[in-house]
Amino acid sequence: MGCRSRSRRRERAPRRVYHLDLDGEQTRGARIALLPGDPGRVPRIAYSLDPEAQELAFHREYRSYLGHVRGEPVLVVSTGIGGPSTSIAVEELARLGVETFLRVGTCGGISPQVRVGDVVIAPGAVRLDGASVQYAPIEYPAVAHPEVLSALVAAARSLKKPHRVGILASTATFYPGQERRDSFSGYVPRALQGSLDEWRALNVLAYEMEAATLLTMASAFGLRAGCVTGVVVHRGRSEKVTPRGLKRGEENAIAVAAAAVEILVSP
Ligand code: URA
Repeated sequence: MGCRSRSRRRERAPRRVYHLDLDGEQTRGARIALLPGDPGRVPRIAYSLDPEAQELAFHREYRSYLGHVRGEPVLVVSTGIGGPSTSIAVEELARLGVETFLRVGTCGGISPQVRVGDVVIAPGAVRLDGASVQYAPIEYPAVAHPEVLSALVAAARSLKKPHRVGILASTATFYPGQERRDSFSGYVPRALQGSLDEWRALNVLAYEMEAATLLTMASAFGLRAGCVTGVVVHRGRSEKVTPRGLKRGEENAIAVAAAAVEILVSP
């Protein structure tokens, strides 16, 4: 599965895109973008790629930095939380000429195979996100591009980071969708009661909220995408994300994503 014609995209690329508040001149022909959810994480990721990275825009939840890796322009753009805002970022970046997307985020462990601090690299995601069905019918798989997937696995191995390759469940909500009871009402609708056990029984490794949207859209557009997330809480033990768990999961995922970019831009 290759990328669609670059020249066709380039002709259309320079126009300003509304939500990201970016144009093709600012993005300097960048063809690769790292996508954290959190705008606060963008500078940290960008500086880990390139200490001279620069902020391009910060509009709503979309914060954008540009750096260079081995001379190649690389964007770091936050998606905000969840499928709808992720779909806007992916749409607008694709229109600006981005062909390879790498989500770098966090997740809540489901499977006993993962621990807090591990990195989950996803060959695919369960499509509970809501947004992706407006791009492709639910039967269409949310799968990573094999080149991005193998770059992520090679990066995790070379850094000796604890990692698992397996399926994520991308939910439309953080609370009922992930069967959390520490919510305002404490109530989980019947259709979602028992869902945590079910995903565990089906060998889903962790919950998060953006991978399915990204992977579905990139495949449907003929572009490349992959996803690496750090486990910040384990749902077998707790519902609460602690600062310590967050730090460990985030650091490992960012390190793997940055090393994967090096691999992807290498000739
Ligand atoms: N992200 C999620 O979506 N869920 C978690 O539990 C942790 C991070």
